[in-house]
Amino acid sequence: MDLTLTGLAFSAAPGEAAGVALNGKREAWLAAGRGFLEDPKKPKAVHDEKVARLALAAAGIELGGVVHDTALYSYLLQPTTAKHALEDVAVRRLSLRLSGSVAEKADFVGRLAGLLRPEVEGQELVTVFEAIEQPLAAVLAEMEQTGVRLDPRALEEMSAEFDKEIDALTRRTYQLAGVEFNLNSPKQLGEILYEKLQLPLPRRRGKTQAASTAADVLEELAELHELPARVLEYRELAKLKSTYIDVLPAKIHPRTGRLHTSFHQTGTATGRLSSSDPNLQNIPIRTELGNRIRAAFVAEPGWQLLGADYSQIELRVLAHLSDDPVLVEAFQRGEDIHARTAQEVLGVPPLGQTGEHRRVAKMINFGIIYGLTAYGLARRLGIEPAEAQRYIDAYFRRYAGVKEFREQLLEEVRGMGYARTLFGRRRPIPEIGSRNANQRNFAERTALNSPLQGTAADLIKLAMIEIHRRLRQEGLRTRMLLQVHDELLFEGPETEAGRATELVKAAMERVQLPGGVRLKVPLVVGTGLGPNWAALK
Ligand code: CTP
Ligand code: MN
Repeated sequence: MDLTLTGLAFSAAPGEAAGVALNGKREAWLAAGRGFLEDPKKPKAVHDEKVARLALAAAGIELGGVVHDTALYSYLLQPTTAKHALEDVAVRRLSLRLSGSVAEKADFVGRLAGLLRPEVEGQELVTVFEAIEQPLAAVLAEMEQTGVRLDPRALEEMSAEFDKEIDALTRRTYQLAGVEFNLNSPKQLGEILYEKLQLPLPRRRGKTQAASTAADVLEELAELHELPARVLEYRELAKLKSTYIDVLPAKIHPRTGRLHTSFHQTGTATGRLSSSDPNLQNIPIRTELGNRIRAAFVAEPGWQLLGADYSQIELRVLAHLSDDPVLVEAFQRGEDIHARTAQEVLGVPPLGQTGEHRRVAKMINFGIIYGLTAYGLARRLGIEPAEAQRYIDAYFRRYAGVKEFREQLLEEVRGMGYARTLFGRRRPIPEIGSRNANQRNFAERTALNSPLQGTAADLIKLAMIEIHRRLRQEGLRTRMLLQVHDELLFEGPETEAGRATELVKAAMERVQLPGGVRLKVPLVVGTGLGPNWAALK
């Protein structure tokens, strides 16, 4: 294996970036090492290329020629393991502890590259590494560096508004309870719900959890009494206020005036990206509260935000992977897939459908993806489990290809112990053979969901790499800022908006797939422009 290592690992190690600026000797070393670090023809191994890039960028060096990333190798081989820092991987894979020296880190990275690369090859993960994860590191590094503009005054106003609403909810709750109590105390809330108000104890639970005030229990009780409904609202407001509204202003970088979110390539079992400071995935989608927070993400003066999101990407992936003729045909013809399911499953022809029919069908469509049980679907739709079971049965009758796909998939996962995406990313599911019914059910849901979510994640990552390349190639000033769920957020001069929209939409819808793979159904992307993230039209 062609490995040139020297001291590169030190720049890849988290926390060493400061040393670049502070330590004169290191700066001198970096100056001498610049040629090596930037040379794309000198192959290197690093642990976490994204971090290495950011550290070196601070010293004015653009890292080139990375061929091994031992953090990504470790993640691709063990995506259900949470920790992939060098010290964790060294202990797990080499049974070695880091003592702290840079030379030792470099040595470990080199050894790990030699050990893990053959495993990555053996498990057919090279495509995911070379076509997706490795090139994505540079894209993410740039997105983090760019950051996103926040409107601190909007956040301040929101904080005051939220306080008012939280206050009003608190008073209403006291009124309903007939007494003041500590809303944040599960014990006191439990006493109000089950003793004072005499609400029924939740059935399915064991004795110890009987007085539960968990969200799902409150949701059920909310149908019987207003108080639990208000408590749920109170909790959501308080949570959003403390995790976003009150902490975001402090995260605005003093020099850039922007928020520099961190993206993590090794944080999820499915292959999706995760993010922190803030965790963008946890801002509620499609709710008024989530929108209020997104309104604080704004464009620079004279610039605009551009949002682009995939429409029903998991359902389209399901159509492709299952090859179900009805599903494939519906997407090929550009039909409204929820209306089609209303027709197939509820037996209502398009002209006779109401919004309610479509809503039920939509819940069934997404419920299938999440492997919802009849019970889960029933709760979401507010119907009896027996009726929900009839819908699920009807779904699998009408979409027989999906049923067959699901059965084959379960068979495969039982045999191999893992699920795979279209491009070979793996997700171990050892619980598939469990004798515990709960664990097994969860494993079966995961077996169906991982290839769909994981392939969707692969697709949007491929699109990001392509968009990043094309924006540069076309010399546009528009830049990619954020990725969350199936959505990408950009910022650019108003004068570029038309071209940028076209470029992004085309790259996402006609994303080039590794190995010349072609999807059987079209991908569809919606776009919107606006001054802030909540006002994209
Ligand atoms: N979504 C979900 N579960 C739901 C609703 C939505 O997981 N019950 C997710 C899906 O990934 C979906 C995305 O949120 O693709 C966007 O939601 P939405 O626009 O409501 O879904 P569409 O299928 O586009 O429905 P519509 O045509 O009504 O907009
Ligand atoms: Mn939609």
